[in-house]
Amino acid sequence: MCGIFGYTGNSSAQDVLLEGLRRLEYRGYDSAGVAIHETGGTRCIKSLGKIKNLSDRVNSSPLEGSCGIAHTRWATHGAPSEDNSHPHTDMDEKIFVVHNGIIENYQSLRTELQERGVTFSSETDTEVIAHLLSEFYDGDLREAVFKVIKVLRGAFAVAAIHKDEPGRIVAFRLGSPLVLGIGENEKLLSSDVSAMLVHTRSVIYLNDGELADIRPDEVNVFSADSVEIQKAQQEIDWDISAAEKSGYEHYMLKEIFEQPQTIQNSIRGRIVEDTGNAKLGGLEKVKPELRRIDKLKIVACGTARHAGLVGQYLFEELSGIATEVDYASEFRYRKSVWDDKSAVLAISQSGETADTLAAIREANEKGVVTLGVTNSVGSTLSRETTAGVYNHIGPEISVASSKAFTSQLAILVLMAVNAGRMRQLSLIEGREILQELQSIPEKIEKILLQNDQIRDIANRYKDFKNFGFLGRKYNYPIAIEGALKLKEISYIHSEGYASGELKHGSIALIDPEFPSMFIAPKDSVYEKNISNMEEIASRDGKIIAVATEGDTEITKVCDDVIYIPETLECLTPLLTAVPMQLFSYHVASLKGLDIDQPRNLAKSVTVE
Ligand code: M6R
Repeated sequence: MCGIFGYTGNSSAQDVLLEGLRRLEYRGYDSAGVAIHETGGTRCIKSLGKIKNLSDRVNSSPLEGSCGIAHTRWATHGAPSEDNSHPHTDMDEKIFVVHNGIIENYQSLRTELQERGVTFSSETDTEVIAHLLSEFYDGDLREAVFKVIKVLRGAFAVAAIHKDEPGRIVAFRLGSPLVLGIGENEKLLSSDVSAMLVHTRSVIYLNDGELADIRPDEVNVFSADSVEIQKAQQEIDWDISAAEKSGYEHYMLKEIFEQPQTIQNSIRGRIVEDTGNAKLGGLEKVKPELRRIDKLKIVACGTARHAGLVGQYLFEELSGIATEVDYASEFRYRKSVWDDKSAVLAISQSGETADTLAAIREANEKGVVTLGVTNSVGSTLSRETTAGVYNHIGPEISVASSKAFTSQLAILVLMAVNAGRMRQLSLIEGREILQELQSIPEKIEKILLQNDQIRDIANRYKDFKNFGFLGRKYNYPIAIEGALKLKEISYIHSEGYASGELKHGSIALIDPEFPSMFIAPKDSVYEKNISNMEEIASRDGKIIAVATEGDTEITKVCDDVIYIPETLECLTPLLTAVPMQLFSYHVASLKGLDIDQPRNLAKSVTVE
């Protein structure tokens, strides 16, 4: 979604802001702009399309100044256009504003402003903020922002500068992330912490309802009622190279290849072989509650929800806790039945997904224990859940999630073992699962060695217009995740099904033009999967099978095969996910598509 970046200090704001925007590119955007305080005024440059277009423009008319705000826009109100891109300004061009999120009452505010003689130069909801600030401004930008936020409704983050107050940025957060970077005589502001790591690792996360008043040598944070708040600084320990491509053609490929390491990072120090148990420090404080619960609701979106679906099988099998998985976006519409033995688990890489946060707030409202799995230290999710577990995998930049998914799976295994050891899971069983979990990184290495072969397979299938993905039990969620991966980066229509559902409708699609990816490792449902594959083959449907090493029989019913090493059934998703990622990646790459920033998609979906 949209990205905000701000800088005030001694360096060239133009360079810092453009670099910041480049690092926010992965969030998804259609246009971009910067506004910088220059001697005698503020100058704004915007452009449609890539940051490269913006930097070409800026370079042809460089902006001289060391304080400014910048933005990548992902259109919500009004089409992608230069006029609609941010920053927006008032009629006197004194105030410039960038904004993420949605102003729900912008239409009525716009009408009122127009009745007072204001003319608008864009179709955006954001522009009302600039005009309102202008009306309220009386020599102090902070006071004006305090007044404006009282009339805005919605979920948003805003940053503003005023021509007469050089060096000062005022920002406010309500429902859309903002983090401050604290450097020596320079301060930064960003929607995403990874975009400012090259400048500083000391950060302050703003909470909803907080306003930041930033100058090169000071930061003051206030509540919406103007009460000053003492905020703690946090140190980010991510390696900067984690936010770089490190020689890979795309972030997605780099992140796929990082998985042996990221899974290692997610499980390190969390396995106690002696007791056959997982040690999750973030859950310690809710141990009594976790011992008591008998009902778990998992809420998440997209890929994170698919991890949750694997979690459902894990929790039910290993711990006997009745588990349901909901689309976070649907959760609030259901009248969920709670009791004091229920808990809600939210899974979110970013920790800022609006729908997932709304689900957590709904659960908090009901007084239910809320748990989180997130990769973003200090994110809203981590702050608003009762307890949780971090992924520790560094920033995931590619819009298409890969390393976050397998890390979520690994953490769900740990959580399910932990819950299981409080209940039905024996020491021997717990130990066996955890020992095998530690061998998963090495097994993923083996799958990655087949990269070229998977690329060849992708080359043979890249021109099909439709694709089916099928799997059963633990690998049903991997089928729907495989379909999501392919559709989001290659734009090929693809559907994931539980293979048992084939005969209930989707088999009607099968013909030589409708290939299937069939996930069929040697597990308890293997024979059933083979029967389904025969049904497809006998209708001339092409099949790529994901099978267990040594399974030569399967080649009789499929056209191509990708092998995974043998593992425990409950851990197969950690391996079968990898061929899904590589296959989709190569199809999209062979089609020459923009893999890291697929059309219409945003990395962090911060609006509902
Ligand atoms: O940051 P989150 O994990 O909450 O994001 C959830 C989804 O938006 C995300 O997984 C999305 O589906 C990805 N594009 C999938 O590759």
